[in-house]
Amino acid sequence: MKKVGVAILGLGVVGGGTYKILTEHREFYKKIHGVDIGVVGILERKKERAEELGVNADMLTCDIDEICKNPAVDIVVEVMGGVEPAKTFVLAALNAGKSVVTSNKELFCKFSHELEAAAKKNNCGLFYEASCVGGVPVIRTLLDNLQGNRITSMMGIINGTTNYILTKMSNGGASYNDVLSEAQKLGYAEADPTADVEGFDAAYKLSILSSLSFHTKIPYTKIYREGITGVETCDLQYGKRLGYVLKLLAIGKNSEKGIEVRVHPTFVKNTHPLASVSDSYNAVYVTGDSVEDVMLYGRGAGALPTGSAIVGDIIYCATHDNFNYSTFENNENADPETKFVTNYESAYYIRLDAEDKAGVLSNVYSVLGKYDISVAQSVQDNEKKNGSVPVILITHETFEENVKKAVNEINNGKVFAKVASVIRVVS
Ligand code: HSE
Repeated sequence: MKKVGVAILGLGVVGGGTYKILTEHREFYKKIHGVDIGVVGILERKKERAEELGVNADMLTCDIDEICKNPAVDIVVEVMGGVEPAKTFVLAALNAGKSVVTSNKELFCKFSHELEAAAKKNNCGLFYEASCVGGVPVIRTLLDNLQGNRITSMMGIINGTTNYILTKMSNGGASYNDVLSEAQKLGYAEADPTADVEGFDAAYKLSILSSLSFHTKIPYTKIYREGITGVETCDLQYGKRLGYVLKLLAIGKNSEKGIEVRVHPTFVKNTHPLASVSDSYNAVYVTGDSVEDVMLYGRGAGALPTGSAIVGDIIYCATHDNFNYSTFENNENADPETKFVTNYESAYYIRLDAEDKAGVLSNVYSVLGKYDISVAQSVQDNEKKNGSVPVILITHETFEENVKKAVNEINNGKVFAKVASVIRVVS
């Protein structure tokens, strides 16, 4: 029987899950796939962590060269996260002729061009299913199953931490800061939550997913990014009254106008399938010209769900001899011919603090009308706060630039109302 040796770089949450799945299912994989996949090396400094997982101490090393020079290692699994030293280690493994499986979205998003070049040159496999949306099988679905389509749009809830925080704010009415502290205590949010709450994690994933969907490099620097740190609980409650749920949505669209890519808090109509994706769950909603709509849903993080994606890649790599790389020229920068749309078309939720007197709404409507913004829904709260009343408007689809100009004019003119928040809406 063919033997395949795996080395794991890092025994953190995902490394531990991967080790557990590989060792517990070894006999099953032999029977089903006809290949004996064994863990033969682990790069980890913490001996206690290795002991906790029952790892044989002989397998442990702190030296990447030992792994690269070991002829028993065929596949190197990188689950360290961050750019360095992960990048140096992955390139060393590829240049030593080892195939690589990685869960590292930041590394793959920023350096896929260098990693793919090294993989191609050395005729090795480079797999990254676990880099996006953990256990949800979205990468191979895009790479294989949906190839018959021109993908026109993808929308995803691709960060579990922010989805957990927004769900709790919406259900319990607590503030962002209180829910974040609670989420940190429960281990749902990192001690430094910046990458998640400011939308970087989602932007890295959207860069990878939109590049694959639209067959052209979409650098993450081209993605408009806005996190959830400024979200106010009252907006979630008003949105709920109007039939919307707030999500940190990653959106990629490809039309004759060009490509638009953005990550920001978005109200989703509660009849949309993405509206039911709550807590730390993730989902990606893809639209193709033939298949129409497809939604993939599941756990975007965690030891075993992410380990599931990694082990799927290991088995694929162990049972294939020819490897595929990007279907597009994978450069660091976007192709100069790619057009990016920044004046998006969207519906908008606008909350105004308005003076409670005659003519104020007519002033607001007049500014909106000037910029061709039409209101689809509105609600006014009778409860006065600091002498003003909240008025909520949901607009029909309009242009982002028009909304910015109208907001500026309302806030700086004699309208007797101020815009307190603006949130994009998907219906
Ligand atoms: N921190 C990520 C999330 C999981 O909250 O979804 C790993 O990408």
